Amino acid sequence: MADSDWTWKERDGGSGRLLYEPGNWGDLLKNLWVFLVLQWLLEVRPGQDTSYSDPFAGAPAYPLTRNTVKRLAGTGIGKQPVFAAFFERGLWPSAASLARCLTRGVCQVYDQEAGRRDEWRSQAGFSLVEVADGWEWLAQTPTGKGFWLVDPYDFLAVWEEWLPSLLTLAKHATVQLYVYNRSAGGGAQLANYRRFRAALEEGRDGLGYLRGRLASDAFLPRAHHEVFLLPAPGVVEAAADRVLAGRLAEATRVLSRAQEKMYQFETGGFTTGPVEGS
Ligand SMILES: C[S@@+](CC[C@H](N)C(=O)[O-])C[C@H]1O[C@@H](n2cnc3c(N)ncnc32)[C@H](O)[C@@H]1O
Repeated sequence: MADSDWTWKERDGGSGRLLYEPGNWGDLLKNLWVFLVLQWLLEVRPGQDTSYSDPFAGAPAYPLTRNTVKRLAGTGIGKQPVFAAFFERGLWPSAASLARCLTRGVCQVYDQEAGRRDEWRSQAGFSLVEVADGWEWLAQTPTGKGFWLVDPYDFLAVWEEWLPSLLTLAKHATVQLYVYNRSAGGGAQLANYRRFRAALEEGRDGLGYLRGRLASDAFLPRAHHEVFLLPAPGVVEAAADRVLAGRLAEATRVLSRAQEKMYQFETGGFTTGPVEGS
């Protein structure tokens, strides 16, 4: 099995279900986009608001697993100094920690788990927002500024309730949204996804967005990881100059090629050296 022997996922405290593996393909895509978008915003808008807000911030960092290292092999991501600084310590950074390293600006975070909030309190450079829920914070900040990451576990389960608030926020701030897309299973999930996409189109009202997608895993993908970037009106024009779109497309393809390499061909263990062309 090409990509199935990873060792741990986070447990949902309430149910004990396994929910999310830090450093999975979706996490790689999400963090790479956060890195590229913030780097680009610093280039095109020096001195402008680069504050970072993250209502579903997770933990500051996680153990860097063997499987994450395997997924990153050959992508060049480990050579980026901000990523390398974490890898050297055996850590996979959360998006908020990456953002803080890049912008050195205001970094506001919240997570529903009390233990995680304690971890953020003990980190220099972060401000923990006093709210009861990440969605509540987002909805209470309709004219928020800077960059917002919206990275809940399952946006497509709650999109009808929260997309309006997210779209309102995206009229002022640049918003990056993570979506776990189960449409590959067909039926109701596909219909739900189609309705979400139609509502997003309509709600953006011509402002547009960029979307990246990777398969959920490199064994037999049953779902897809997606990231959507909704640039604030003030940066839409610059985002449309194709520099950012080009960088995000290339980065997404680099990860996609790494994934394809893992599932398209297996030697079944009978070769001892590297296969020609790999
Ligand atoms: C996919 S993880 C986020 C990962 C994080 N963005 C990172 O870069 O490491 C989702 C997080 O959302 C938190 N969460 C789920 N529902 C929430 C809610 N309603 N309000 C705030 N946090 C929530 C979970 O505790 C979990 O840490």
